[in-house]
Amino acid sequence: MSEFKNGTKKVFVGPFVQSKTLKELEICKDGIIGVDEEGRIAFVERSTADVEAALKLHGWEKVEVIRLKENGFYFPGFIDTHIHASQYPNAGIFGKSTLLDWLNTYTFPLEASFSDVARARAIYNRVVSRTLSHGTTTAAYYATIHVAATNLLADICLAHGQRAFIGRVCMDSAIAPDFYKDESAAQALAATRESIAHIRNIDPTHAIVSPIITPRFAPACSPDCLAQLGELHRETGYPAQTHISENMNEVKLVGELFPDARSYAHVYDDAGLLTDKMILAHAVHLNDDEVALVKARDAKISHCPASNTALTSGTAKVRKYLDYGIDVGLGTDVSGGFSPSVLEVVKQAVWVSRHVAMEAGDAVKLSTEEALYLATRGGAKVVGLAERIGGFEVGMDWDAQMVLLNEVQDMEGHGEDEGPVDHFGWESWEDKVAKWVYNGDDRNTVAVWVKGRLVHKTSRYQS
Ligand code: GUN
Ligand code: FE
Repeated sequence: MSEFKNGTKKVFVGPFVQSKTLKELEICKDGIIGVDEEGRIAFVERSTADVEAALKLHGWEKVEVIRLKENGFYFPGFIDTHIHASQYPNAGIFGKSTLLDWLNTYTFPLEASFSDVARARAIYNRVVSRTLSHGTTTAAYYATIHVAATNLLADICLAHGQRAFIGRVCMDSAIAPDFYKDESAAQALAATRESIAHIRNIDPTHAIVSPIITPRFAPACSPDCLAQLGELHRETGYPAQTHISENMNEVKLVGELFPDARSYAHVYDDAGLLTDKMILAHAVHLNDDEVALVKARDAKISHCPASNTALTSGTAKVRKYLDYGIDVGLGTDVSGGFSPSVLEVVKQAVWVSRHVAMEAGDAVKLSTEEALYLATRGGAKVVGLAERIGGFEVGMDWDAQMVLLNEVQDMEGHGEDEGPVDHFGWESWEDKVAKWVYNGDDRNTVAVWVKGRLVHKTSRYQS
């Protein structure tokens, strides 16, 4: 089960849409994209529907041809830069809680149950197939403190073919509950190393699954644990992920637990964890000094708007981060966030920015195009794979979804019993994309590929 081999060359024929820049989508109505045996994009033709000619031009003979036959387009796979796989059974459950009581009431008891490997297997299989069905081709996962279950999550991602970063959660401080915590920093480190070794063993080149060093958040970790994880981050070069400044009570708690640190961000910086390979989830209440530090270290931000609303954590100032030049991606943050869908989070990111705009002015609004960029190219930067995923460039991997628009959006237009065509089917391409974003869901994503491999399809998929 090591390096994934894909077999035949494929060509994908039909319209495609991708982010060109933060502000601009490319819409190509007549695309032909060639994907080689390794799942890498070998060519992108933008102005011909003539497959024979394209194949001849590139000297390709035996290929599988996948045609988009209905109203729709190929879109890059979504990148979920922050999701707790273990919390999936709680998705949608948050009551009136805010972060710290939510953790104790709902989250720690659920995560503790992953000592049961059979239970972990059932839940992790479900999470991976559900997120794939929503077009998530890459996920940065938090598992739990349990090495066996964490390693199983890596096995399951590899078996399903979902690109994933797998984090064994570290939490050794006094605020972690007795029934669910690491005994010591040394134990958190040993368990993390054990999980890294397993993932290295099953996927030595990390073509699909990679480890990610995961101190849960500063309040749950001793200074010693943070420092040792920082050292491991430096030593191995593996990425890291954590939470930062999500909730005001949490920020206050960090001030009390780390009285010598200049700020919350400095706690991570002092431990050697604030680097260009660190994914910081939430970043709702960072002060200007912290934003400057995050930028100086080139650390990444995972914006989790659905979760921030559910737990009434606050509104992250995404426009400010983008203006600073900080790399931002989107996170579902299941189960702080209620949905495993990045498309849902695209909508939520736009909504939250509009609420911020009602106070701060129009300039802070995120456009649909910008939110889609964060879900793809932005996310790719956040997980350190901007050269490999997030768009349809020659040399990138084919991580993609086939989106069909009919049924869900009333965009038939050419059906015989639908009445006059001017009721439906008149939309411009920009309108079609907007209808997908605001009215669409997993029913529209009829097929999903990772590294050229078909990893999900519905009954509506026909190639
Ligand atoms: N901070 C520490 N742990 C968590 C978690 O599991 N979810 C969220 N949203 N914030 C956290
Ligand atoms: Fe989280």
